Amino acid sequence: MDNNIITITDLSKSFDGTLVLKDINLNIRKGSVTTIIGPSGSGKSTLLRCINQLEEVSSGGVFFQDTNITESNVNLSKIRSKIAMVFQSFNLFNNLSVLENCTIGPIKVLNLSKEQSNERAQQFLEKVGMLPFINRKVTTLSGGQKQRVAIARALCMDPEVILFDEPTSSLDPEMVQEVLDVMRNVISEDISFIVVTHEMDFAFDVSDRVIFMDNGEIVEDGEPSYIFHNSKNQRLNKFINRV
Ligand SMILES: Nc1ncnc2c1ncn2[C@@H]1O[C@H](COP(=O)(O)OP(=O)(O)OP(=O)(O)O)[C@@H](O)[C@H]1O
Ligand SMILES: [Mg+2]
Repeated sequence: MDNNIITITDLSKSFDGTLVLKDINLNIRKGSVTTIIGPSGSGKSTLLRCINQLEEVSSGGVFFQDTNITESNVNLSKIRSKIAMVFQSFNLFNNLSVLENCTIGPIKVLNLSKEQSNERAQQFLEKVGMLPFINRKVTTLSGGQKQRVAIARALCMDPEVILFDEPTSSLDPEMVQEVLDVMRNVISEDISFIVVTHEMDFAFDVSDRVIFMDNGEIVEDGEPSYIFHNSKNQRLNKFINRV
């Protein structure tokens, strides 16, 4: 077995005849932190959404370990429990409490008992600093608190991979740091992280690898020091100077 948790081969995606991902090839190493940067409209979210099949690919393969998850016989809720996602807009269940948001997946998808799910949820809510809020309705939380709950919810599924799509972009500036700190705190070698972000300092600090996308393509790919200091790629440098 190789050391890749996700393998993407010749992936293309179009919407209404417009090609938005062009022949993407990418391997994600188990236990690594990969950040994806690039201008608006470059295809970052679409790529993440293809990785957990929220979006169907037009052609090519997405392998989770050895399984091509683009094939029709794949159990998608099982795959999405292995490849969890944290969204810019939180996507929590507003009618449920903080605790229930974290236990519903483990109960319904992983078939854990209520007791086991509660115990697990409390462990991860503590990790993100949200244990004091477990009985609150999520509508009463700040954006930063909601995103910390969304991170705990993802962890409760015991995933192999967590995808983050601009997790701090809809937050007020004073809350960005608390969420980035929680993300740093949950990074571990047991889980592979793929993070779309505009937070360049964060990307530089936490990444094993940074991918620069532009116009539906992977334009540059390398260690943070290469991407931020040594690459001569003009499209990349223009982007970095702008942000
Ligand atoms: N459901 C959809 N239907 C039609 N076009 C779409 C759809 N989703 C995305 N697109 C188009 O695909 C392209 C890539 O979009 P995507 O959201 O992946 O970019 P992005 O890099 O995440 O941008 P941003 O930084 O603004 O989030 C854009 O041109 C977008 O308009
Ligand atoms: Mg996006």
